[in-house]
Amino acid sequence: MSFIEWDDKYSVNITKIDEQHKKFMSIINELHDALMVDNHPKEVIERIVNELVDYTDYHFKTEEDWFEEHNYSDKEAHKDQHDKLRNQVYKLRDDFAENRIEIDLSVLSFLTEWLVEHILTSDMEYSPYLISKNI
Ligand SMILES: [Fe+2]
Repeated sequence: MSFIEWDDKYSVNITKIDEQHKKFMSIINELHDALMVDNHPKEVIERIVNELVDYTDYHFKTEEDWFEEHNYSDKEAHKDQHDKLRNQVYKLRDDFAENRIEIDLSVLSFLTEWLVEHILTSDMEYSPYLISKNI
């Protein structure tokens, strides 16, 4: 069973961004499936967490490049939100690698809630502006 499922209410009506948000959710689901396996090897979780960190960077850069290119008025506040999550996922990755924390369902819940909240508020706010720029 999926931990998080795509719903059309998450659509910002920009195909590339919707596809990236779907991919983000699929990595969260992959992590969930791996955590559900008894005695899951740490290397498997580490690989998925690394993928999640890399994809976070890639996805945020897509949005931020568009903000710059089209001089989106709220770009600084939006980038601040991205930076905060970037730092949190870097810390998760490093703390896990150094055995300071476990990756568990509370981590998954945090990531899922962050993503949904961010899409439904901040990402929805840029949507009409970027669509008006014909991106
Ligand atoms: Fe965003």
